[in-house]
Amino acid sequence: MVSERLASIPESTTMKISAMAKKLNGAGLDVIDLGVGEPDFDTPKNICDAAITSIQRGDTHYLPTSGIPELRAAIAEKLYNDNHIEISPEFVSVVPGAKMAIFAAMQALLDEGDECVLIGPSWVSYEPCVNFAGGRVRWAEVDEEFKPVDLAESITPKTKMILVNSPSNPTGAVFGMEILEEIRDLAVDNDLRVLSDEIYEKIIYGQEHVSIGSLPGMERRTVTVNGFSKCYAMTGWRLGYLAGPQEIMNWVNRILSHSVSHATTFVQWAGIEALKGPQDNIKAMVTEFQDRRNLLVSGLRDIGIDCSLPGGAFYVFPDVSEFGGGDKFAERMLSEAMVAATPGSAFGPGGVDYVRISYTASQKRLNQALERIGKMLG
Ligand SMILES: Cc1ncc(COP(=O)(O)O)c(C=O)c1O
Repeated sequence: MVSERLASIPESTTMKISAMAKKLNGAGLDVIDLGVGEPDFDTPKNICDAAITSIQRGDTHYLPTSGIPELRAAIAEKLYNDNHIEISPEFVSVVPGAKMAIFAAMQALLDEGDECVLIGPSWVSYEPCVNFAGGRVRWAEVDEEFKPVDLAESITPKTKMILVNSPSNPTGAVFGMEILEEIRDLAVDNDLRVLSDEIYEKIIYGQEHVSIGSLPGMERRTVTVNGFSKCYAMTGWRLGYLAGPQEIMNWVNRILSHSVSHATTFVQWAGIEALKGPQDNIKAMVTEFQDRRNLLVSGLRDIGIDCSLPGGAFYVFPDVSEFGGGDKFAERMLSEAMVAATPGSAFGPGGVDYVRISYTASQKRLNQALERIGKMLG
């Protein structure tokens, strides 16, 4: 009944787990939901106020596809100051969420049968976006810290693109300069594009985020994606952006103009406030996330679960192969311990031994979750 192209695209596991947890909670059970990928903080008030003012001003009409010039200029300025990427606002497009940015970039860059390299366990929507565009994923191996090993072996004559996501969802791995230079060299030598999803750039612990688009030789090869969902706790607002070379962005804009048209008008004005207003909320949120990460990693290790210390994002990705693998472990966590987490298999074949636990709940709830998992393991 539906196209063959769609038949192989799975439902989003993270959305499915979250719906299950909500259903159980709705039935009166006390499920601790550590399956979700969104900060448990409110959008800062100054950003909400900017949206309200914008609605009251009457900013409720259509816009040009790529967004309001003031926001595109603010994003270009941010990319220059924070990421050392020099790009004209003309080649920045605002979109309803980073997910749409990734979808549109894949549509613009991939032809039928082209390959996109994903480095180890990767965010659930990358592979479906590649498949929607007619492309295929080639999975690159990673080490125990989820850093690439022998990346060159994943490059074939069909490779068109490498996807970089640092800090990573689901592993929390952060790629330093050495790895990014290796990816840059491969891209230059093999004439590849890099799609760099930097949505967790500011949720990083004691390290500097480096944008691959800032490396010499990458200006014309990189499409940088970012958004407001994670750093500004704006998941429901649907606001993201992408920036890249003119010839790619022209096509991205054509895709957007015939699909979503543009991101919501007054949400874009709120985005300006997010970028230009006070940034202290991010600092407070990251400090809290870091405390939770430390609590969760040491708590899991104490109950005998092997867990590396992630450098960024708000997930831990412990190895539960000793307990029957990620699918079985996540199922037990939900049915026996009433803790929702996401099986690592949702993030590709390299994730089957793992489970992703989000630390988007209070330290009190995380302690309760650890206690329940500890009891479950006896
Ligand atoms: C790695 C990664 N990229 C992109 C997104 C999508 O973000 P947005 O809410 O801006 O669409 C997510 C959300 O979970 C994510 O984890």
